Amino acid sequence: MHVTSRGHRAPGPGAESWARCGLAASFTRRSPGAPAAAARSQRWPSCVASWRRSWKESAGLALGRASESSRPVKDRASTWTASPEVTAPPGSRRTWPGGEGPFRGLRWSGGPAGSGRTCTLGHWLLSRPSGRLWLPGVNSNLVKPVSSEGGILNFCANNYLGLSSHPEVIQAGLQALEEFGAGLSSVRFICGTQSIHKDLEAKIAQFHQREDAILYPSCFDANAGLFEALLTPEDAVLSDELNHASIIDGIRLCKAHKYRYRHLDMANLEAKLQEAQKHRLRLVATDGAFSMDGDIAPLQEICRLASRYGALVFVDECHATGFLGATGRGTDELLGVMDQVTIINSTLGKALGGASGGYTTGPGPLVSLLRQRARPYLFSNSLPPAVIGCASKALDLLMESNAIVQSMAAKTQRFRSKMEAAGFAISGAHHPICPVMLGDARLASCMADDMLKRGIFVIGFSYPVVPKGKARIRVQISAVHSEEDIDRCVEAFVEVGRLHGALP
Ligand SMILES: Cc1ncc(COP(=O)(O)O)c(C=O)c1O
Repeated sequence: MHVTSRGHRAPGPGAESWARCGLAASFTRRSPGAPAAAARSQRWPSCVASWRRSWKESAGLALGRASESSRPVKDRASTWTASPEVTAPPGSRRTWPGGEGPFRGLRWSGGPAGSGRTCTLGHWLLSRPSGRLWLPGVNSNLVKPVSSEGGILNFCANNYLGLSSHPEVIQAGLQALEEFGAGLSSVRFICGTQSIHKDLEAKIAQFHQREDAILYPSCFDANAGLFEALLTPEDAVLSDELNHASIIDGIRLCKAHKYRYRHLDMANLEAKLQEAQKHRLRLVATDGAFSMDGDIAPLQEICRLASRYGALVFVDECHATGFLGATGRGTDELLGVMDQVTIINSTLGKALGGASGGYTTGPGPLVSLLRQRARPYLFSNSLPPAVIGCASKALDLLMESNAIVQSMAAKTQRFRSKMEAAGFAISGAHHPICPVMLGDARLASCMADDMLKRGIFVIGFSYPVVPKGKARIRVQISAVHSEEDIDRCVEAFVEVGRLHGALP
């Protein structure tokens, strides 16, 4: 039986596909006098050279020699050689090397076709007709989680509960589309608020057992809007060093004093809280569950410290809402601190239907303040009705029963225990993010490629997405996977692990 999961869309050419296609690039400093050819020959194995050649042909780049693009690229201060950390086997997905990741903005040694000149990628783009920059591969298709009939099983989406393909969720989206239209052509405070927006905000607050909630176009926006609206230059924010990029960016936007504590290190947080006593207000900001490792913030300890040092607690629950805790309320439910976490931001784009949208939920006056001051709320379009309809139905399903949550938890347990029994090290505990720790970037990339050949879609993550030497394949379990799917994934890992020497 094929179960089409609209949420199981493979990622675009972002950091993940970047890492996957073997170009989790590092830039190696080369002393100005060192021979470029020597550096090149070390850094471009032959299979990469042929891959690069065919990629360049398909992208329409005219380079004098096949290896020309590995010539040192200059920035103002020094000479750098762009080098891949791992190889991209022929036939793997190809992405535009200048468009994403660390190459962005650097000079590219290809010129407009035939010109032989060096120009920036931006100028090169201007010089050509717009068009496709990367070839369609698996990432351009819907990936279908299928059972034993074959096909590709997606184990790398944030579709933890499988609700993006739930028939009732899809039906609710269609109904909202028909009843309320395609979109509002407006921000919320002009004419972008319909009854369904208010209803969903009330439902979110009810789900989290908070006073009120405010919707944003995304959780990235919720994080961008919160800190600036809430904190002044007299305040302080204390942030886990591994917090999500959107929290980091949100904090950058505010004028409060910034303290960064070591990942999950409560002694370090306490020291920073003591230092921050001189400020008017303190806010501790953390991810509830960290997406690279599947580890969980020690919220009990954080809340205890916050209460001792007079701080508010903010938690980003993107990788927890809907499935962590006995009824899926999140990390605060899991750790029994629902009454101590003041502010929660989360997304509709993962477990709650997987489309898009984010929110803040917390005290009523805070939500009122955000409606007045949060810039992404004030200056960006309101969420389209279809998205609202899907998310609203997803919450209904979760509030009716926690069967889906339990099903996902059981499958997570099945995967983790079978993989550990087979000899793999899985980071984190209990979370459906199950990073299979491999250490070596090339190993992670090549194993992920071989998994795909066996019908399992997973992604290898390496530096700079994760620390050097901590490359891994991040597997994400979904309630929509069957037990047979989980077993198929484990079997493929064992086979591929043996093939590459990751298992004896
Ligand atoms: C922890 C965390 N916060 C925020 C976001 C942004 O969420 P959204 O996709 O709704 O913008 C993400 C998405 O990856 C995330 O993982």
